[in-house]
Amino acid sequence: MRLTPGPARDIDLAEVDLFDLDLYSHGDPHPIWDVMREKAPLHHQVLPDGREFWSVTRFEDVHRVLADHREFTSERGTVPTHLGTDDEAAGVLMTSTDPPRHTEVRRPLGSKLTARAVKAWEDKIRGTIVRFLEPALDGEVFDLAEKALLLPAMVTGPLLGIPEKDWENLVQLTAMVTAPSDRHFLVGHEAATLAISHHELVTYVREWARSRRATGDEDDSLLHHLMSVRPGGKPLTDEEIALDGYSILLGANVTTPHTVSGTVQALVERPEQYAKAQADPSLIPNLVEEGLRWTSAACNFMRYAVDDVEIGGGTIPARGAVVAWIGSANRDAAQFPDPHTFDITRANAKRQAAFGFGPHFCIGAPLARMTLRIFFEELLQRFDSIELAGEPEHLRSYFIAGMTHLPIVAQKRQTP
Ligand code: HEM
Repeated sequence: MRLTPGPARDIDLAEVDLFDLDLYSHGDPHPIWDVMREKAPLHHQVLPDGREFWSVTRFEDVHRVLADHREFTSERGTVPTHLGTDDEAAGVLMTSTDPPRHTEVRRPLGSKLTARAVKAWEDKIRGTIVRFLEPALDGEVFDLAEKALLLPAMVTGPLLGIPEKDWENLVQLTAMVTAPSDRHFLVGHEAATLAISHHELVTYVREWARSRRATGDEDDSLLHHLMSVRPGGKPLTDEEIALDGYSILLGANVTTPHTVSGTVQALVERPEQYAKAQADPSLIPNLVEEGLRWTSAACNFMRYAVDDVEIGGGTIPARGAVVAWIGSANRDAAQFPDPHTFDITRANAKRQAAFGFGPHFCIGAPLARMTLRIFFEELLQRFDSIELAGEPEHLRSYFIAGMTHLPIVAQKRQTP
């Protein structure tokens, strides 16, 4: 989807189809969300197959839906591609479990992913990013979006304890789960793509845990840590470990690459912002926050209303599905003045909603922030300028906002 919106246009909200994949692969949803925030902060849509959902688009409503599990449960599923099918892993998979059980499910992972804990990986991650950028130094066309798909696997693979030979396959599988209609990932039809990829991913982590248990091998990886923790005095089952591993693989693989590509695109289109960051590297952490806001790679998450609930000037009936559009919340002028301007000096960029809110706030946020900071430190240090070398291609997904192709040519930095 376009991250810099085109001109405002007439929009008939009764006709809007927020699940229209063309809107994201070739279209421009921002002008639609702008009108929704102003005129229909609670929007209702019925799909041709009868499934229905409500949408909230304002920052404060997105915050409320994602943060308040008493009003909006995660237990029936949180990913809009699964709308209408209750999540079988509720109560086990961290993403589809409400507090207080959620706190127990999340705890074993939390201590390994704090800002302080991930700091220990900084040098390793920097080495990985330097290797990643190496091929761009030769001045040839470098398809950043395509290459970046592998970046989280390069970063989290060693931390998780996943061997390099499996990374490519896992990246493909996680992309299939989140963008099952994109031609790069489609196998047969959408439902089959979803089912195959979900099954293969969970099976991979389960088998990995089993074989580790059998050999008794130990290391300091995250998956190994999961095998040794004992929340409530009991070890996690292989199934629980498999689902945690699945969440991490998914959480990391499908978001960070698109934040990288979308932020680089924003800088390429605004050379003055690139020059500003290069002249003052202390701006890089804020550039990362603005990039997270601008790209909103997790475009939305879903919840189900527990009871009838008043929100956005309307009512969602009990058991109704509600999609919280993070991509829209991050462009809400009530929160971010001049929201469609990409500004690396934006004062409150850190308030961005890209990692969600409340109990499910992204557990990988410290790792993602550090990875992105290192990425931009290394990029700005290496290249004087970057230019587009072809048309970007956007991901065909209403769940993940991203790109499949972003060809660039980078000029090696001459000055130190
Ligand atoms: C730019 C990068 C990232 C973005 C934009 C992002 C976004 C999000 C969002 C919006 C949520 C909230 C889901 C909800 O409310 O239901 C979330 C949760 C989660 N993220 Fe991330 N994420 C990123 C990176 C990562 C990384 C690197 C990891 C793995 C280390 C990760 C693992 C997870 C997990 C496991 C959850 C579920 C947490 C829970 O349910 O308690 N994410 N992420």
